[in-house]
Amino acid sequence: MRFSGKVVFVTGAAQSQGRCHAVRFAEEGADVIAVDICEQIDFVPYPMGDGDGLAETVRQVDAVGGRIHAARCDVRDRDALRAVVDEGVARFGRLDIVSANASICSVQPLEEVTPEIWDTTLDVNLTGVWNTCAVAIPHLVSAGGGSIVITGSTGSVVGLPFYLPYVAAKHALVGVCRSLALELSDRNVRVNLVLPTGVDTPQGHSTVLPSLLDRRPDLGAVFTNSLPVSRIESIDVTHALMFLASDEARYVTGTAFPVDAGATIR
Ligand SMILES: NC(=O)c1ccc[n+]([C@@H]2O[C@H](COP(=O)([O-])OP(=O)(O)OC[C@H]3O[C@@H](n4cnc5c(N)ncnc54)[C@H](O)[C@@H]3O)[C@@H](O)[C@H]2O)c1
Repeated sequence: MRFSGKVVFVTGAAQSQGRCHAVRFAEEGADVIAVDICEQIDFVPYPMGDGDGLAETVRQVDAVGGRIHAARCDVRDRDALRAVVDEGVARFGRLDIVSANASICSVQPLEEVTPEIWDTTLDVNLTGVWNTCAVAIPHLVSAGGGSIVITGSTGSVVGLPFYLPYVAAKHALVGVCRSLALELSDRNVRVNLVLPTGVDTPQGHSTVLPSLLDRRPDLGAVFTNSLPVSRIESIDVTHALMFLASDEARYVTGTAFPVDAGATIR
């Protein structure tokens, strides 16, 4: 129960990593504020979270004896996001930890990056993360400090061919993390990134990447982990996030923590 008495805010919580984070924090005693868009963005080529998924997250948090305030909300809508977080804080009394996890991803050659794909990916994956931080920070400061963990990617520190808008946003999050960490250091708010390699979730299974790499075999090594695993599990990311959110990491801020099976050390 190492997060007993704490409150965590998780975005993108209707499935996959976001659900895993919410349920594990609840198991460790935290109250959870959870949002997900719960609808499909049309160019995203895998199933995003939906209402049933968010209800399942609520059920799993209940099952471990936790409390959760869950709502459909798009991280691009800062006013709606603020309303959900304010309601959750009114209910649970405080906010200590933020997991800025929600994102979208599409895979295509650069010639197929439409303005819509570019703009929407940057809006969700970059501006959405900033919105998440912006609505949460006043509550973290009121609580006397806290921890923000932004989910980046190996694509935050290396180029990933065919992921251009996604990688642009994930690289930009490094700057967001470092700048926020500096500015918030006087208020005891730590800000870190966790950088997963491919994770066994809908987003982690591209159906088009294999055929693109068939045409560009020279690029295949970029997607190869050093440890003998093709994809990690959501829980591997949750473990890193929980460390970064915990008091054990009290002097860890502004870092980009890889959970990448050695993908970026080659
Ligand atoms: N899966 C991978 O291989 C992988 C690798 C590296 C990093 N990541 C990152 O890990 C994080 C979690 O990804 P995942 O694998 O669980 O993917 P996922 O697509 O299964 O889950 C993401 C969740 O975010 C939600 N979401 C998307 N846009 C939203 C919006 N505008 N507002 C609110 N919610 C929204 C989706 O509905 C979905 O439930 C993301 O930041 C992702 O970029 C994933």
